[in-house]
Amino acid sequence: MKVEDRRVLTSVKGSYLRHPMTIAAGVASLAAVLGLNVAAFIGGLGAPWLLGTVILSDMLVIGVGIFIAAREVLTAENRTEASQARLESIVDSAMDAIITVDAEQNIVLFNRAAEQVFRLRRDQVLGMPLERLIPGRWRAQHRSHIESFGRTGVTSRRMGDVTTLWALRADGEEFPIEASISQASEAGRRYFTVILRDITLRKRAEDEIKRSQHDLRELSARVLEAREEEKTRIARELHDELGQLLTALKMDLSWLRERLPDNELLEKANQMGTMLDQTVTSTRRISADLRPLMLDDLGLADAASWLVQDFAKRSGVACDIRLVAADALEDVSKSVSTAVYRSVQESLTNIARHAGAKNAWVTFAVEDGTIHVEVEDDGRGISPGDLAKARSLGLRGMRERVAYLGGELEVARAPRGGTRLRIRVPLRGGQHEAAA
Ligand SMILES: Nc1ncnc2c1ncn2[C@@H]1O[C@H](COP(=O)(O)OP(=O)(O)O)[C@@H](O)[C@H]1O
Ligand SMILES: [Mg+2]
Repeated sequence: MKVEDRRVLTSVKGSYLRHPMTIAAGVASLAAVLGLNVAAFIGGLGAPWLLGTVILSDMLVIGVGIFIAAREVLTAENRTEASQARLESIVDSAMDAIITVDAEQNIVLFNRAAEQVFRLRRDQVLGMPLERLIPGRWRAQHRSHIESFGRTGVTSRRMGDVTTLWALRADGEEFPIEASISQASEAGRRYFTVILRDITLRKRAEDEIKRSQHDLRELSARVLEAREEEKTRIARELHDELGQLLTALKMDLSWLRERLPDNELLEKANQMGTMLDQTVTSTRRISADLRPLMLDDLGLADAASWLVQDFAKRSGVACDIRLVAADALEDVSKSVSTAVYRSVQESLTNIARHAGAKNAWVTFAVEDGTIHVEVEDDGRGISPGDLAKARSLGLRGMRERVAYLGGELEVARAPRGGTRLRIRVPLRGGQHEAAA
């Protein structure tokens, strides 16, 4: 605050009557009048002029006194009225609804914003119980909440920290609010003031975001499912159609080789045989990478075992799989088995690409209808920065997929160094079934 402003404020508060000079002059004149009175009392009968002067000056003092007192009373009243009016205009111009109730919880103040929010006029609600503004099922709770707040002696606090609070408009519409409450005593009576805000729009926007997040998750799951189906179809065709054609070609070639003379023609045919073998191997690999048909034909346990062996062979990282109570895996739903299989596949790819590990361990266990999978390595370990990489979608995709099925994924540094990834998913995919 600037010095000038402060001066303005003190000049408003102070009055010239309280100025030290005025007080000194007042005291001096009172002393003079008192002296005159004493002199008149002692020798007044002998000096009529003294008596006259004393009577006049006494009347003057009494007159001035009455004038000052009346003036003080009037300005004090004006001042209270002015500050009252200022307070009312502040309360009325507030954007939030402000409601004050007395100890019996009857409304004694209701500002303009409250009129708009509740669609009620001030004169309709003053003196009315606060309960009328609260939906029926919350009334008892609300009353005891305010009473217990009164007992705490705390001056103010936010209401409804955990749950959404609801209020009731005149036309019976319920709406969500955000509110705080405060208490104060005036002339021995206790008052509670509730300041509240209608959060209908915000809540609607929040619900909208939640719904669109849910929709996006649903959409991403559908897209993944469609991709998986497409891959399965191509894998099957590669395996069945192309596989059979290649086998037929191989048979024809060996028929031809038996009949060829031992010259460069036979050599060429032998080369073709080697190439055909390579083609068969490549086709099998491509088909298996697309979608292990084993997953559909033999189940998750066998497919995962094959995946681990194949990984060990291809990457040179020694890798073991341990299956605990794996019989229960027969109950697994198709979407869960695909998600788990793809997660293990991505984890093993990560180990090959990032970990620099010598060993890896995969464990499958089923307990109380939930699959627990652990993939651990003894490599360089994972850092929080790795998990936050913007362009890395492997772990993120896994987490999304597992969450969609009502499960959880956890990636952390393993106790013996390296990285440990843990997945927990209900065998039949909790949330997915619930949402469907
Ligand atoms: N087993 C692991 N050991 C060490 N670092 C890992 C391991 N797995 C993942 N990471 C780190 O986490 C990052 C994110 O992995 P991911 O989401 O699969 O994305 P991407 O493999 O495409 O980089 C990787 O870039 C890597 O730095
Ligand atoms: Mg990856």
